[in-house]
Amino acid sequence: MVINMVKSSVVKLAGLLLLGMALTANAVSDKQKAEIEERIKPVGEVCLEGDSGCGAAVAAASGGAASPEDIYNTNCMACHATGAAGAPKMGDVADWSDRMGKGIDQVYANAIGGINGMPAMGLCMTCSDDDIKAVVDYILENSQ
Ligand code: HEC
Repeated sequence: MVINMVKSSVVKLAGLLLLGMALTANAVSDKQKAEIEERIKPVGEVCLEGDSGCGAAVAAASGGAASPEDIYNTNCMACHATGAAGAPKMGDVADWSDRMGKGIDQVYANAIGGINGMPAMGLCMTCSDDDIKAVVDYILENSQ
């Protein structure tokens, strides 16, 4: 008897749950659906160069379209403008000519792979190896 009562309330409970789920699903209007789709759409949309529909911020964040100067200002300046943690300073001829003694390829490699206080890629997660080389060239051009 008791078992039957428990069984029947479990069935009723399950029925209520299903009903609730069905109601919730129907309660989402087309407008809400559109809003949800807007919220969950992928963050990075394909943005072709010269496409005026894409914001400048998107181009800068994607890495590929950012200029060496942009990358420097965003990722390297914090340490290389001030010499923080012993970083060679942008514009300091002696700092950089000393480092060039080991050859440009080693300097590139250290910027890409990191060395001591220099984090790999200068912490630019969207940068390619070539981006980093271009930024190193930019720093060197401004430090001679
Ligand atoms: C957190 C601070 C920090 C950031 C950010 C940073 N650097 Fe450095 N960088 C250093 C320090 C410290 C050194 C010196 C490391 C050493 O030789 O001991 C260094 C050294 C270098 C060197 C010289 C490597 C060599 O072989 O002598 C290059 C080139 C360089 N950084 C490029 C960059 C570039 C490009 C960026 C940005 C994409 C960047 N760094 C971002 C701290 C930083």
